[in-house]
Amino acid sequence: MAKNPTDGLGLNTMAKHRLKLIASLENLRQSRYLTRKISFKGRLTSALVFVFEDQPYSYINHCMHMQRPLDCEQDAIFDNGGRYLRCSMHGFIFDPKTGECQSPVCLGQRLQTLRLHEMDGDIYFAEKHLTLID
Ligand code: FES
Repeated sequence: MAKNPTDGLGLNTMAKHRLKLIASLENLRQSRYLTRKISFKGRLTSALVFVFEDQPYSYINHCMHMQRPLDCEQDAIFDNGGRYLRCSMHGFIFDPKTGECQSPVCLGQRLQTLRLHEMDGDIYFAEKHLTLID
């Protein structure tokens, strides 16, 4: 049986190569949200990264209603109560934990989730087909 090349943290060597550093968890906690320019599956776009109820989340910054970034009109991604993600273009709201739209026109559709990994206090993208663009 082949030896599993894990690093003791549950990551094998291939998985570690997929990690792209975003920020420290502390930095992310202190920010309302961060955006990162990325290429994902060959498409240039941006990612939203934020902490909600002490858990980090990331989605492609792309509202399915009219194909706009959620923060296109305001430098904000949450509603006033901080309970839902909110697109600043027409105000559609999304569950921060699932990315599922709660507004009638797009009810049930979801923002594209990006997998994250936390290691030694830092947050990384853990997506094979994602490249950071700087
Ligand atoms: S483009 Fe997001 S709500 Fe219309």
